[in-house]
Amino acid sequence: MSGFSQWPGHEAVLIRTGARSGLPIVVAMHSSTLGPSAGGCRIWRYARWQDGVEDALRLSAAMTAKFAAAGLARGGGKTVVAMPEGYELTPERKRGILHDVGDAIESLEGRYATGPDVGTSPEDMVVIGERTSQVFCKPAEFGGSGDSSPATAAGSVAALRAVAARLGGGAADTGAGTLRGLRIAVVGLGSVGARIANLLSEAGAELVLSDIDASKKTLADGLAAQWHADPRAALTADVDVVVPAALGGVLTAAIVPELRCRAIVGPANNQLAVPEVADALHARGIAWVPDYIASAGGVINAITVELDKRTEAEARQRVRGIEGTVAGLLQSADTHGVTLAAVAEELVRERLSAVADR
Ligand code: PHE
Repeated sequence: MSGFSQWPGHEAVLIRTGARSGLPIVVAMHSSTLGPSAGGCRIWRYARWQDGVEDALRLSAAMTAKFAAAGLARGGGKTVVAMPEGYELTPERKRGILHDVGDAIESLEGRYATGPDVGTSPEDMVVIGERTSQVFCKPAEFGGSGDSSPATAAGSVAALRAVAARLGGGAADTGAGTLRGLRIAVVGLGSVGARIANLLSEAGAELVLSDIDASKKTLADGLAAQWHADPRAALTADVDVVVPAALGGVLTAAIVPELRCRAIVGPANNQLAVPEVADALHARGIAWVPDYIASAGGVINAITVELDKRTEAEARQRVRGIEGTVAGLLQSADTHGVTLAAVAEELVRERLSAVADR
């Protein structure tokens, strides 16, 4: 396989032109080792449609890791609908796109199920659900587990607690493991980021907030947080922890030397611009919790409620389990003197091979 070191090893990728929208509909199925593939549906603008394919490839591979590390019996998948720059997404067009996505998923005969992601909501899952049964997170009145953002936020905060225990809390901390007094920058205040900011504020953290949408400053004012209109300023702020909560690729080789935080933990998918950034962060003594660990709360909730038919209380319990997972990763990374990324990858490999060997 020399020369193929970057080949992500997908089982299959469907690319088709939406009959209604005329847009490229990409469904990437990375793995079915642990179960049928699943992952959200992203509707986003790209300079080139091929960038959307690449996004689907990377995001679906990350979903395999997310499910495996969370101990869930699903494989990684992702749908990307690539809109051209400047494309005007009217409600009628959105409906057509969602039906195109539903038809594409239905053609896969149960090998892939979708859920909400950037650009789609639980209500959109109802529209996709008009063409296929393979959808998670429809609102409760439609028989689904609804918005997964609160669970994703809770999962990231659970991961943050494990990291806070390690950092020893902030200046005003009175006991190990609390978030009180810790300085935390949340970069991106969408449905998940805004919830994380609220949870951290309740827990007594000192916040620095940022979003490219200037109207989000109201949230910062409401929480008495420091505001940065520029996400880069928040990423490089003098804080204990940075929480990436927007689109991926924010951790570049160029930004690593400018970071002033001690740890990075957040729900954004695919945070590293290139995998080597994990090592560069480690070399600077910055603990990076892999995104697929810190963002797993949403899928943990959806799968626990919709597939395992457990109660919401049980789902919350499982989401809180992310704290123990991260504590375990921190421990073994220390023991072996390697990055969290390396021990997390090892955990994923073990889970996948345990099944493959059966
Ligand atoms: N956007 C979710 C994620 O990246 C995708 C998802 C949520 C899939 C819920 C299924 C159910 O984890």
